[in-house]
Amino acid sequence: MWGGRFASGPAEIMEEINASIGFDKRLAPQDIRGSLAHVAMLGEAGILPKADVAAIQDGLKAVATEIESGGFVFKRELEDIHMSVESRLTEIVGPAAGRLHTARSRNDQVATDMKLWVRDTLDNLDEQAAGLQRALAEKALAHAGTVMPGFTHLQSAQPVTFGHHCLAYVEMLARDRGRFRDARARLNECPLGAAALAGTSFPIDRHATAAALGFDRPTANSLDSVADRDFALESLSAASICAVHLSRFAEELVVWTSAQFDFVRLSDGYTTGSSIMPQKRNPDAAELVRAKSGRVIGALTGLLIVMKGLPLAYSKDMQEDKEGTFDALQALSLCLAAMTGMVRDLEPNAPVLARAAGSGYATATDLADWLVRELGLPFREAHHVTGRLVGTASARSVGLEELTLDEMRAAEPRITDAVYAVLGVENSVSSRTSYGGTAPDNVRAQATRWLDHLGAAADGANA
Ligand code: ARG
Repeated sequence: MWGGRFASGPAEIMEEINASIGFDKRLAPQDIRGSLAHVAMLGEAGILPKADVAAIQDGLKAVATEIESGGFVFKRELEDIHMSVESRLTEIVGPAAGRLHTARSRNDQVATDMKLWVRDTLDNLDEQAAGLQRALAEKALAHAGTVMPGFTHLQSAQPVTFGHHCLAYVEMLARDRGRFRDARARLNECPLGAAALAGTSFPIDRHATAAALGFDRPTANSLDSVADRDFALESLSAASICAVHLSRFAEELVVWTSAQFDFVRLSDGYTTGSSIMPQKRNPDAAELVRAKSGRVIGALTGLLIVMKGLPLAYSKDMQEDKEGTFDALQALSLCLAAMTGMVRDLEPNAPVLARAAGSGYATATDLADWLVRELGLPFREAHHVTGRLVGTASARSVGLEELTLDEMRAAEPRITDAVYAVLGVENSVSSRTSYGGTAPDNVRAQATRWLDHLGAAADGANA
């Protein structure tokens, strides 16, 4: 491709370190799409004769067909997808193919290809995250009144409902989707036509190619156009946060499915057995979701470090954006799919959850609140009285509701029988009616609101 300046070919190792075709061949559809838009514009602008434009367009379509059918032979000596396509195009249409590269460079070409790929991928991730939200909201509605322990420090804190817990992840995923959309909106400027770094002297129409490729507008600075990988960094950052959310949920599933917790049951479809221990039922899918977050975060860190020392504009370092970005966003997609399947199938173990919800003095706050509400105690004093009662109950190894009224009155003489009503787990959760609280009616309303919203999105309306 640059034979004019070189007398001999690259060293074997040079070829190996330099070639990206092994991984950028997946950009073939984006590369050809970009070339079709570019050559059509060159024709419209009168830069190329119509006959050459038509020949190049037919040739590009033939190359696309060969790649799709698997008949295309990728060669390492052609370095990357851009040269591979152009080289095959030359074989098919002859010297006219050499005109395609007028007024562009591989630098603006690769930036365009990557943006197109990342954009499609963000759209898919957004849709998949919506699918997981839907599965969670359905579980939430079904289990709006299923009580379970709520934790802080992984210590029993206050009873909540299983549905409420599911909806916490629906909220996180809503923010994740917002970040995917923000990243998409910000990346949607077209670098094509920035050429190597300075723009071009040909009278190209960058607005036309931008529009043809679904971008909102062309990028405004040619140096930035070819030097920018923010769109990959931002997408990986959004992906990392989403992966962390999935990892936290996966961790809960791993803990909850242990024999010691026994809070939920995963389906056969999302667990594995052990080759030696017949009793085992391992939450491998959840463990892998937890682990893959490491790859996603690793890709973000890796690319930040690749970029941080690069002077403007393009440097070959930037070729290292691809494997991590492809791998990470693909891993996240797989995690979202696996999580959706796990959530759809999982069943909470309601009796165990109810028992656990009542243990660990989880209604102590309800008792303190009662002392404030009914006896007018300042909360700090109520906290102290309740602490004494927890101590008494704990010394006798009984629950708060098993203390006698005399024992209660030893801590605060004005306590009456009515206190026992707030010590029940069901009462506790149904009293949490503040906006965003865990009361089953709240959970039902929120789950329904989400399902309406997500259903509308599935019907094509803007979520
Ligand atoms: N394969 C290259 C990459 O992914 C394409 C751009 C090459 N540009 C260059 N000036 N060598 O970054």
